[in-house]
Order: sequence, then structure tokens, then C-alpha cells
Amino acid sequence: MWASLLPVGRDPESGGYRRFVWTAPELECRAWFLDEARRRDLEVERDRNGNLFAWWYPEGIDPSVKGVLTGSHLDSVPGGGAFDGPLGVVSAFAAIDLLRERRVRPDRPIGIGAFAEEEGARFGVACLGSRLLSGAIDPGRARGLTDGDGRSFAEVAAENGIDPDTIGPDEELLGRIGCYVELHVEQGRALTDPVGVASSIVPHGRWRFDFAGEGNHAGTTRLADRRDPMLAFARMVLAAREAAERNETVATVGKVHVTPGGVNAIPSSVAAWLDSRGPVDDAVRRTVAEIHEAARAGAGAHGVTVDLAEESYTEVVDFNLDLRDRVVKALGGVPVLPTGAGHDAGILASRMPTAMVFVRNPTGVSHAPSEFAEEDDCLAGVEALATVLNDLACG
Ligand code: GLV
Ligand code: MN
Ligand code: MN
Repeated sequence: MWASLLPVGRDPESGGYRRFVWTAPELECRAWFLDEARRRDLEVERDRNGNLFAWWYPEGIDPSVKGVLTGSHLDSVPGGGAFDGPLGVVSAFAAIDLLRERRVRPDRPIGIGAFAEEEGARFGVACLGSRLLSGAIDPGRARGLTDGDGRSFAEVAAENGIDPDTIGPDEELLGRIGCYVELHVEQGRALTDPVGVASSIVPHGRWRFDFAGEGNHAGTTRLADRRDPMLAFARMVLAAREAAERNETVATVGKVHVTPGGVNAIPSSVAAWLDSRGPVDDAVRRTVAEIHEAARAGAGAHGVTVDLAEESYTEVVDFNLDLRDRVVKALGGVPVLPTGAGHDAGILASRMPTAMVFVRNPTGVSHAPSEFAEEDDCLAGVEALATVLNDLACG
């Protein structure tokens, strides 16, 4: 399974993945998912928000009994690694295979979810599929989100067989899920055992800064006559690092659009995206406020304007304690750790008990081509997930 998914959307030069929702490589991943599901006689379902599910209804089971959901996502950040998302989906299929090999007969349905646009790499809002499903984003706002080519979520969803008028919370589907356990590659170096369990997800969000100045000639415009938005932007980037240090948070500017982007032209505008996260809401809010202040000062000094818009914000998520303890117990006592990464399990936590199982990442690198997990650790992850599913779905 892993080998068949590995070439999909991989850049042959960098080894990084680009699997943006509803682009060709991501559609190939979806086809792969449906194929793996059918190969196992799982019942496939695509919900009205574009999320995919594969359900195992053991014979004779009452289908109205709430199921145990596992899975993750198949999309990637630009230039991402192979493991972030797909490891959870592949491990879910492999865990079901193990349970069947062992002749386990669950008393509850077991489902595998592949959530749409988890990274928010195409439409800007992370975990868009699970946000829509759980009611964490207004469907009208989601419809209007645009990708880098200016195409709306509504338009692209419609092209892919989703009726944009029916996106949004799906109580019927949520009512069929008793709990969600997502397996994921660990994205830092905190986990030194093969497998661990998540305690919480730190508060995190995304903000867009728009700097507008005056486009002009790079050779003929005197320094005193310029209104260069790049200079205010540069101040903002440096301020992000300083504010993060002061507030013991992290702040990253990883995406920027310069218009028009000519070597010999002073830009007319710069759009920049800030990602900030930290242990507590206040510290993250303060970080962003300080960066905004610096951006405003930079804008004032250079005769440009700056607008700030919050694109998403997720407060701290403390995973359900009972479920977490049960998972840790089933695994015979494994480390419990917080994470600075966002996940669908964090979004769905508002609607059902959720938990996460992490697989060790020896270098801690993630969202980059060198993201890695040892095969033995991945197999330990599959074994752990099978154990957890066995515990939650039987008896
Ligand atoms: C998703 O991986 C995120 O934490 O941004
Ligand atoms: Mn990710
Ligand atoms: Mn992920």
C-alpha cells in the first residue's frame, strides 16, 4: 500500500509532495483510497463536504450502533513529506487487515476517514473538510474561499461532484460516529518511544497581511518618492521572530505574493501569511498584535497601507481524558505528549471524543521532503492502532 501511494504527487527533483485538494495527484490518492476500500469489501461513502469514508460493517452487526472512526488525510502542504496524513490512512487499512487476520469480530462498525483539505494548502483554511462536517466554519464563508488561481471552493467542489449548497454540518453522519482515533507521524522530536498518545493541540491560527503601496520603476524612482510595500513587509517578518521570542510562541511567514513580481519594478502590493502558535491563547494573541503593530509602523514609515485579516484560529484542544486514558492503557502505557500541529482530530473533538496516536519521527522534520519514520516504528503504529480499535470496537 505504502509503495503504491508513494509516487503520487512527488516532485522527482526535491522528493516533496504536492497533493492539493481536487488536483490531479489528490484525485489519484482518492482513487487509491476507494480501491483499497473495495479490495477489502468496505462500504465507501463520500459525505457532502468531500470527505471520504470506508466502513467495515461486520456481518450481523446492527448498523445503527455508533462506529469507531480512524484515518487521517491524503492532501499535503506544498513540498510536503510522505507521512503527514497518508501514514494514518495506510495504517488504518493495515490495522483492519490485522484484525481480520486475527479473526477479531468487532461489535461496532469501524470506519476509515480521509478528510479533505486538512492542510488548507489550496483554499487557505486548514481542516476544511472536518470543519464543515462538524460545523466549525460557516458554509457560506467556505463557499467563497478562493485558491491561488482565484477559483472558489464552491466552483471547484461542484466540478468534483459536491453540491456547494449542501455543504456544512452533517448531524446524521456525526451521529453514526462514536469516537475518532487518528494515527499520525509525530512532527517534532519530542517522542523518543516508537509510539505515543496526544494530550493536546496548542492554540494556532493563520493571518493574512496585505501591504499596498505604489508600483513604479526600479531605476528612475528616487528613494524619497517611493511607497514600497516590500519594506513594511520586511519589518513585519523580522517583527514576527522577535514577537515570538518575547512571548514564547512561534511565528512563521512561509507564504508571500508580490505584485507584480518584476525584478525591475517596485511592487504595488505584497500579501503575506502569518502562522502563529503557542502554549496559551493570550500569548498567541499578543504575538499577532505585536506583529501587527510593527507592520503598521513599517507601513507608516514607507507611505503604504496594511490590512490584517484572521483566516483561521483554533483554540487549545485538550483531548478527551477518558478516551486518552483508555488508549494509553490499551497500549500498555506509552508517552503522552502535546503537539504544535493541527489535526482533524482537534476539530472533531468539539463533536465527539477524539484521540491521537503518534509514530516516532527520528529527526522531527515535517512539512518537508525529509519527513521520515522508520519502517519498524510504522509497523508498531499499525499494531498499536489495531490494539486500540480492538479495544474500542469490541465488547
Ligand atoms: C497541519 O499540519 C498544521 O499543523 O498546520
Ligand atoms: Mn501537516
Ligand atoms: Mn497531518
